[in-house]
Amino acid sequence: MVRFSVTRKPTAPIDGQKPGTSGLRKKVKVFIQPNYLENFVQATFNALTAEKVRGATLVVSGDGRYYSKDAIQIIIKMAAANGVRRIWVGQNGLLSTPAVSAVIRERVGVDGSRSSGAFILTASHNPGGPNEDFGIKYNMENGGPAPEGITDKIYENTQSIKEYLISEDLPNVDISAIGVSSFGGPEGQFDVEVFDSASDYVKLMKSIFDFESIRKLLSSPKFSFCYDALHGVAGAYAKRIFVEELSAQESSLLNCVPKEDFGGGHPDPNLTYAKELVARMGLGKSSSGQEPPEFGAAADGDADRNMVLGKRFFVTPSDSVAIIAANAVEAIPYFSGGLKGVARSMPTSAALDVVAKNLNLKFFEVPTGWKFFGNLMDAGMCSVCGEESFGTGSDHIREKDGIWAVLAWLSILAYKNKANLDSGKLVTVEDIVRQHWATYGRHYYTRYDYEVLVLVFFIGIQCRMIKGVRSDVSKVVHGDEFEYKDPVDGSISKHQGIRYLFEDGSRLVFRLSGTGSEGATIRLYIEQYEKDPSKTGRDSQEALAPLVEVALKLSKMQEFTGRSAPTVIT
Ligand code: G6P
Ligand code: ZN
Repeated sequence: MVRFSVTRKPTAPIDGQKPGTSGLRKKVKVFIQPNYLENFVQATFNALTAEKVRGATLVVSGDGRYYSKDAIQIIIKMAAANGVRRIWVGQNGLLSTPAVSAVIRERVGVDGSRSSGAFILTASHNPGGPNEDFGIKYNMENGGPAPEGITDKIYENTQSIKEYLISEDLPNVDISAIGVSSFGGPEGQFDVEVFDSASDYVKLMKSIFDFESIRKLLSSPKFSFCYDALHGVAGAYAKRIFVEELSAQESSLLNCVPKEDFGGGHPDPNLTYAKELVARMGLGKSSSGQEPPEFGAAADGDADRNMVLGKRFFVTPSDSVAIIAANAVEAIPYFSGGLKGVARSMPTSAALDVVAKNLNLKFFEVPTGWKFFGNLMDAGMCSVCGEESFGTGSDHIREKDGIWAVLAWLSILAYKNKANLDSGKLVTVEDIVRQHWATYGRHYYTRYDYEVLVLVFFIGIQCRMIKGVRSDVSKVVHGDEFEYKDPVDGSISKHQGIRYLFEDGSRLVFRLSGTGSEGATIRLYIEQYEKDPSKTGRDSQEALAPLVEVALKLSKMQEFTGRSAPTVIT
């Protein structure tokens, strides 16, 4: 057995290592500075405490972006030096964020061990490559992101760090080959287990969904399917699940080879960045002329986000979670016993609220960030949840889950078409959404982003001012700065965005993004509720125009930002 020793390397604090909503995200150029990654990893070990780290089994993997392979070797050497007993690595360092969560919760190692946490190497939907972003975050034993108590401690440690521990003589481990490598250190044996990135996740999905009914749908000549991984890690799962397990055609996969730079693209599944898929679905200007597939979906770099499309039809993420919640019990075996509750983030539209009310379900509105859902799920209070930022998921893990969302939609389609596949007309994605609007009303919804701003921005609460801007918007009945008291641990999160609630159920929300890697980003969320089934089929931008005008005037957006238009509209 190869032996290794431990070196204590002197270091000094580096500024700016405060983890954001989803870990530390910076340009690769920042991460490759001497000691930058090492300081953060040691600060994490220190925050977790030596007691928890010694003898632990930890997962290290990510979306495969540029610098991941080097980072994995560094983390392995530091883990060995800090007394970790085992490191688990997905083959080639690949594991989607939801798969990491599943691995922490479900996987048993070849020697019967279980893991207690993970370093996830990803900057999610941000581009990758030598000039782009890298990121690292730590997930806990429940499979969810570290709570603020831990991330605050990590940050504190980065500000006072004096040394880090590393086993420089530990050879690099071949992470391309499945198997266990064992080494001997001062505190005993240290193992690195490289395992198949997809198996555990596939097993979990098979325990949740009725794969047989989805297979029937996907093999029906009436149905057609397309999945775009945007060259992110979802590709590693898409082939296994959609093609091998569910008999989709190989040609239905777009950009499903994971690449370190995501093929030069922006791996964010929305109408702006998933260009190829959008064209294939007959939605963009550059439509291919061919008949689009019935169903299309995309994922982000680490495969926790999703976008769902029908033929020439976009499903908003806020509608998506509401529709999944409304159909889960009938269409998805995992939920056949009923839903424990549902939850959405504050800026997500109230479509889910209406479903919860109608179905008499427990409902929670939480601040932006998946960790708030995790607490509710750990306490058995929430089964399905979602965010406007293309995140949807359930209590099967403690992260949002891009492929799960696609399987949920395919399950609903399979259920609604049970009797139609042999004879009859296919119930399409668009039919399902329009039917949902007819039953529950429609929340017209749009988000305006003003990115990379240099100024600090403030909007006062001026409900009275809204009157008079336009006579065709309803009355504001409430305005506040959203604050959340976690019903499980009682913790309070303040300053979570400014919201205006209108008498007719419409809303305006302003908040600052917590994920940008440069400058400040303002997000403006505009939502118009329409209950009348004869008016739920309007063009979204047209239906929202009066509220958009009110929002821009009220906030003096142009005056404050110097921008006459948002950088992105979703
Ligand atoms: C990440 C988190 C999501 C959150 C999103 C918000 O993706 O995982 O839970 O919704 O960030 O980003 P923002 O930039 O709006 O703070
Ligand atoms: Zn992501």
